[in-house]
Amino acid sequence: ASRPLILAIESSCDETAAAIVDGEGALASDVVASQIDFHARFGGVVPEIASRKHIEAICGVCDECLEVAAKNLGMKSLRWRDLSAVAVTYAPGLVGALVVGVAFAKGAAWAADVPLIGVNHLEGHLYANRIGCPDFTPPAVVSLVSGGNTMLVHMKGWGDYETLGTTIDDAVGEAFDKVAKALGLGYPGGPVISRYGVKGDPRAIAFPRAMMHSGDLRFSLSGLKTAVVTYINGEREAGRELNVPDICASFEAAVVDVQVTKAKRALDMTGARTLCVGGGVAANPVLRASYEKMCSKAGVRLVLPPLSACGDNAGMIALVALDRFRQKKFFSFDFDAKAHVNL
Ligand code: KG4
Repeated sequence: ASRPLILAIESSCDETAAAIVDGEGALASDVVASQIDFHARFGGVVPEIASRKHIEAICGVCDECLEVAAKNLGMKSLRWRDLSAVAVTYAPGLVGALVVGVAFAKGAAWAADVPLIGVNHLEGHLYANRIGCPDFTPPAVVSLVSGGNTMLVHMKGWGDYETLGTTIDDAVGEAFDKVAKALGLGYPGGPVISRYGVKGDPRAIAFPRAMMHSGDLRFSLSGLKTAVVTYINGEREAGRELNVPDICASFEAAVVDVQVTKAKRALDMTGARTLCVGGGVAANPVLRASYEKMCSKAGVRLVLPPLSACGDNAGMIALVALDRFRQKKFFSFDFDAKAHVNL
């Protein structure tokens, strides 16, 4: 196998994940165990449950990761001490969930006597663009849209980022989840809203496009969520049956219009000729299609991660770790998990 071999762990939210990257930047394994079913009946991620499920899953996920990598690399077995480093997401996210990965990674690196690398989860999402597109290089504008984050980033180079704007309240994925909850469609909201949305008319209901023409690159999603809930309550009070496909399609259109308008503005402001999209909401077909349309009109290259790399995964963490390994940027064992950190 081509060295170095780095195992990365990701446990910032409700996915327990481990991946191994080789010296060429190829993923020898990429294992994700989702806890979604345990959270679904509560309508969202319950932090305490997330921590406990990470503890239950992490040994098995790492064992499987080592086994799969050994097989893919044509090795008889791969042990912790065969690795060149252990990497882990240390921030941002649910701190009780992050702590599980961080403590496990510290223990494993200590026992195997290999270097330890801490990775910023947000930077992982930027590197996720390399998974489906190995020749991707900055400069680029990155639209990061997930359950916990909504931001536009100017990626000037690897390791050189400027946050152009973030949400001032809810994240985009959070808005999908809250609207789905109001419609009684379950959790997570994104996929089910898109399933209904394709059957609806996106022009049926004029939901607000908050801050679309604010002149800056900030977002606001909580007003849109309230507008949808108010509309639903109004229809119910009037005794009208809800047209769920129309509500979903109109909600999606409102979200996507703002995202695309602001991403275009970010491209114009920075002069970047590449747009990347990341995070769980990057799986949304309406968003993907609208970005495609805008980019082809503007003559901008669009890099969309494969669906499997949109949500949280350890492959993207491993790719960051490989660069840190080459730069010999190792962590001492006294670092902590952090709920908040900037790019
Ligand atoms: O990146 P991610 O897996 O983790 C968190 O940041 O939590 O993103 C999860 C989010 C959820 O809010 C989910 O509803 C949303 O991504 N999502 C989608 C779609 N698939 C997942 N949102 C819109 N359309 C989708 N197809």
